[in-house]
Amino acid sequence: MYQPNDHQPIDVDHVIRLYRTYADDLARARERQRALLAPPHSMKAQLDDIEAEITYLLLREALPETVVEIGTFHGWSTTWILRALSDNGTGHLYSYDVVDHVVREVPSQLSAGRWTFTQGSAQENLEKIPDTADYLFIDAAHSASFARWYIRHLFPRMRPGIPVSVHDVFHGRRSLPFTEGAVVLRWLAERENPYFTASRAHAPETHVRLADVKRSLSLGHPVRESRDNPMIFFTLR
Ligand SMILES: C[S@@+](CC[C@H](N)C(=O)[O-])C[C@H]1O[C@@H](n2cnc3c(N)ncnc32)[C@H](O)[C@@H]1O
Repeated sequence: MYQPNDHQPIDVDHVIRLYRTYADDLARARERQRALLAPPHSMKAQLDDIEAEITYLLLREALPETVVEIGTFHGWSTTWILRALSDNGTGHLYSYDVVDHVVREVPSQLSAGRWTFTQGSAQENLEKIPDTADYLFIDAAHSASFARWYIRHLFPRMRPGIPVSVHDVFHGRRSLPFTEGAVVLRWLAERENPYFTASRAHAPETHVRLADVKRSLSLGHPVRESRDNPMIFFTLR
C-alpha cells in the first residue's frame, strides 16, 4: 500500500526521474494506448500525452491498492490507469461517471479483476467511494460548484498524503474565473499546498524540459496530437 511518508514532492525533477526509471514500460504502454485510438476501437480521448504519462508514472511509483477515478467518458484515462495497475501487478480502480460509454470501450483483458465502474454522479455515490483510496483522479464536471463539493465532502474522507490530480485547470496561462480550476487553486493557495503541472501555457519551461527528456528516451512520437496538458497534480494535505 502507498505510504505517505515515503512520498516525494511531485516536481519536475521527480517526474523526470520517473520517466527515466519506467521508460521501457512506458514505451510499451504508449503503444498499447495508441492502438486504442485506431480502428476497431477509435476511442474518444481527453487527456494529453504528458499528463496521461505522469499519471501512469505516479501510479507505477505509488503501487496503489485502491485508485478512485471520477469522470471516465470513453475511458482514455481509465485505460491509462488500468495499464499502470496491470504493469504493477496489483491494485483496483473504482470509477464513477454519469454516462457508461466506458463499459463498452475498456478492453476486458485490462479490466478483468481490477476494475469496478459505478454509473451515476459521484455526488450521489459519495458513500460508495472508497475512503481507502491511495490515488484520486478527477476529470468530471469543470464547474466551481463541483470543485466546492469535492473539497467539502470528498477530500475530508481521503487520507492525507495521497496524490490527487485534477484535469482542465490550465488550458491557458491562468485558470478561468468561476471554474473548478479557480476554486481548487484558491483552496491549494490558502493551505500553501504546492501543485505540479506540465501545462504548455502555464508552465512552458517544464513542458519543454519534459518534451526534451521524452525525445531523449525515444518517447517523443505523440500518441495524441493535443499538447495543452492542463492537469494539476498535488499531494493531499
Ligand atoms: C472530460 S470527460 C472525462 C474524460 C476522461 N477522463 C478521459 O480521459 O477521456 C468528463 C466526464 O465527467 C463526467 N461527469 C460529469 N459530472 C459528473 C459527476 N458529477 N459525477 C461523475 N461523473 C461526472 C461526464 O459524464 C464526462 O464523461
